[in-house]
Amino acid sequence: ITPSEFIKGLPKAELHLHIEGTLEPELLFELAERNKIQLKYESVEALKEVYNFSNLQEFLDLYYEGANVLLTEADFYDLTWAYLLKCKEQHVDHTEIFFDPQTHTDRGVLFATVINGINRALQDGQEQLGISYRLIMCFLRHLSEASAFESLKEALDYKDLISGIGLDSSEKGNPPAKFERVFAQARAEGFDLVAHAGEEGPAAYVSDALNLLQVKRVDHGIASINDPALVAELAKTKVPLTVCPLSNLALKAVDRLEDHPLKKLMDQGVLVTINSDDPAYFGGYMNENYQASAEALGLNNMELCQLARNSFEASWLPEEEKSKHI
Ligand code: HPA
Ligand code: ZN
Repeated sequence: ITPSEFIKGLPKAELHLHIEGTLEPELLFELAERNKIQLKYESVEALKEVYNFSNLQEFLDLYYEGANVLLTEADFYDLTWAYLLKCKEQHVDHTEIFFDPQTHTDRGVLFATVINGINRALQDGQEQLGISYRLIMCFLRHLSEASAFESLKEALDYKDLISGIGLDSSEKGNPPAKFERVFAQARAEGFDLVAHAGEEGPAAYVSDALNLLQVKRVDHGIASINDPALVAELAKTKVPLTVCPLSNLALKAVDRLEDHPLKKLMDQGVLVTINSDDPAYFGGYMNENYQASAEALGLNNMELCQLARNSFEASWLPEEEKSKHI
C-alpha cells in the first residue's frame, strides 16, 4: 500500500476550510457566465497563472475578487456541494467550514442567500454522502468592530445553523484585541469561538486569542513555536491548532515545507490537525496536505493516524460520535 493509498484510507475531519476558498477556477468561470459577470481574465488558465502569492494579502485580494461571482442561493449551494463531493472522494467524514458573510453582504447579497445556499448543501451532504458538519461564521478582521457586531446580529436569526464564530482576513495590524467585545457578546450568545492567529502575526496574537477572545481552538497558530511557554500551555490545555501546511507554503509563512513547525509542535504534545484552508487557491485538498506534510517532515503511518485521530478529537462532534470515527 502506497503512502497516498494509506492517507486516502484514513477517516479524517477537516476543521479549517473557508468555503469561498474552495471556488475552483472552472466553477468561477461557470458562475461568472451564469450571472453575466465580465471577468478580468480570458481563461481558466490565465486565472490560474495569477495564483502565485508572496503573502496573505496578495492571496486575499484575489480571493475576495473571486467571491464576486457568488450571487444567488444556487451559487452558494453549488460551491458547497462541489466541496462536499471532494470530501467524499478523500474520506473526509466530518467538516467544520467557515463562511465570510461580510464579503457578500457588503456587495448587496443577503445574509439569508449565503447561509441558506450553504446550509442546504450541507444538509444534502449529510443525507446523501454521510458527511457530518458544523458551520462557523467568521468576522473579517480588516473591517471594523461595528461591522462585526452587525454580522453577529444577523447571525442571531440563524443560531440553529451556526455553531461557532471565527476571525479571519488580514492578520497584521488587526490584533485579537480589536474584537474582544464582539467575541464576548458571541460567547454570551452561546457560540463556540475560534480565531486565526499566528499565521503571519506573532505568537502574542495566539496568546491574545486564548486570553482575550477565549477561543477553544486556534486556526494556524504556527507562530506559537517561537514562544516555548505558549507551546507548553497549548500542550497542557489541549487547545487544538488547525494547521494548513500547503497554505503556509503558498503564502510564504514558511519558506519550505521542510521548515514547517507541525511536527515539532506535535512532538511537544500540542493537539495539531492538518487542514486545507483554501484548497482551490493553494494547490491541494486534505489528502494533498497530508501527503506533502508526510513527505517533507518524514511523518510515518503512526503519526499520520495520530493526526487523523486528532482531527476528530479537536472537532465539535459529541464525544460518543468522535469515538465512532477514531
Ligand atoms: N488567513 C486569513 N484569512 C483567510 C485565510 C487565511 O488563511 N483564508 C481565507 N481567509
Ligand atoms: Zn484560514
